[in-house]
Amino acid sequence: MILPIYLYGHPVLRKEAEEVPADYPQLKQLVANMYDTMYNAEGVGLAAPQVGLSLRLLVIDADVMGEDFPECKGFKRTMVNPDIVERSEEEITLDEGCLSLPGVHEKVSRAAKIRIKYLDENLTEHEEVIEGFAARVVQHECEHLEGHVFIDNISAIRRQLNKGKLNNIIKGTARCLYRTKAVSK
Ligand code: NI
Repeated sequence: MILPIYLYGHPVLRKEAEEVPADYPQLKQLVANMYDTMYNAEGVGLAAPQVGLSLRLLVIDADVMGEDFPECKGFKRTMVNPDIVERSEEEITLDEGCLSLPGVHEKVSRAAKIRIKYLDENLTEHEEVIEGFAARVVQHECEHLEGHVFIDNISAIRRQLNKGKLNNIIKGTARCLYRTKAVSK
């Protein structure tokens, strides 16, 4: 089932998300809905706050980026209560976007390599090292769980340059091909 994607300006995107409890009802159904929602919007990652749920849960499928970034080939992960335990000092700066900020693209610096612990949708524990663009996607999604969005990382000047676009997103007038929920609508 495709869920509406909550847009920039909505308070749920600014809350620190809660841990997913082990007995969370219908977790697998929620995960399936999040994948449907992400694929429908042609995104490569989606965090639960973006569907209005303040939960530490995210889905990623970066396979479509595989041609430009080989580390993304087959990179599909469901992460419950993820925790980035290590970040490389080396950072990479690349363009980023977000389904909650349609039409906004800005360069963001992220660690080139991370080590992360998380549970999958069966609540099995995992720990892995992730590199390159896949690491970028994971860091972007984890940031949503802290109540941050990617443009929090850009300069005040760059933010100012995007003010018109951001205001349209808040007003609910930004052009968007998928189902959304703007704060003012
Ligand atoms: Ni995002």
